[in-house]
Amino acid sequence: MADKRILSGMRPTGKLHIGHYVGALENWVKLQHQYQSFYLIADYHVLTTNLDTSDIFDNSIQMLIDWLAAGLDPVKSPMFRQSQIKQHTELHLIFSMLITVNRLERNPTLKDQIRDLNIENVIYGHLGYPVLQTADILLYKGNFVPVGEDQVPHIEISREIARRFNNQYGEVFPEPEPLLTKFARLQGLDGNAKMSKSLGNTILLSDDPDTIKNKLRKAVTDPNKIRKGDPGNPDICLVFSYHKKFNPDEVAEIDKNCRSGALGCVDCKMNCAAKISSFLEPVREKRKYYEDRMNEVLDILHDGENRARAFAEQTMSEVHEKMRL
Ligand code: ADP
Ligand code: NA
Repeated sequence: MADKRILSGMRPTGKLHIGHYVGALENWVKLQHQYQSFYLIADYHVLTTNLDTSDIFDNSIQMLIDWLAAGLDPVKSPMFRQSQIKQHTELHLIFSMLITVNRLERNPTLKDQIRDLNIENVIYGHLGYPVLQTADILLYKGNFVPVGEDQVPHIEISREIARRFNNQYGEVFPEPEPLLTKFARLQGLDGNAKMSKSLGNTILLSDDPDTIKNKLRKAVTDPNKIRKGDPGNPDICLVFSYHKKFNPDEVAEIDKNCRSGALGCVDCKMNCAAKISSFLEPVREKRKYYEDRMNEVLDILHDGENRARAFAEQTMSEVHEKMRL
């Protein structure tokens, strides 16, 4: 395994969906063989958009189970909660001195979030989100961070902070680089450009075949194709976009038969549901294994937290030494 490190993280907001799988997890599973990986359950980051913490532990466990079910190897790579490694908050404080408010206000991701989430009063934590994220990455001396396009500005902030620390106190941190995830966003069942929990348009990794069928039944297709026999346009059809991902072998045929009208939307949807179900079958099986063995899941978490903490302590002792603190 290469000596370069990766920090991957997600906010634990509930069970994961197939958008998370194709947009992140599938890639993480490959990367774990090429790099030393750290998997962060970013529970503090949840607070920026949701102050209610009553579900946060359960959500963290469910996300961990989804990660394991998707094929992440806990022996290779530690999986841990941000809140359990105190050094995240300590490094965050030091980094908060190395970046201007002005710079953080210019962060385009923040501007998008303020617009999308209709935020009227920006909290300090929201402004500082990329600073805490920088601590998450650099505590483990992450060289690469697998992200989507929208997260690149955050990584740029991390690079600036790493540079500033190293110039001021001496070399401790690498300048992390984004590792762009190639796959485009998976659309939601309602036709929205993004499958997302908050939009309620998801297929979960844990959904059983009947649930998947029922969800697909209601999915939107080409509005001009009303009954079998009508010619359809797969280019604007959500279900066709799922076929491309989960049923690549039949894509050409479906394209042809949709356009000619030979294939009706109901049949096309049920075929799609079956393909997604079989794609998810191994994930569902592994999920069940872990759900039946909650002690094993907790052991994995605590082991991951011990390993992450050991690394974090080492980094912080270098930080203290350089800063003479
Ligand atoms: P956050 O944890 O910041 O709320 P999300 O839960 O939206 O972010 O996403 C976590 C990860 O999963 C990100 O890497 C994101 O790119 C990916 N992801 C989420 N939804 C989708 C989707 N619909 N299509 C592709 N990737 C997605
Ligand atoms: Na989300």
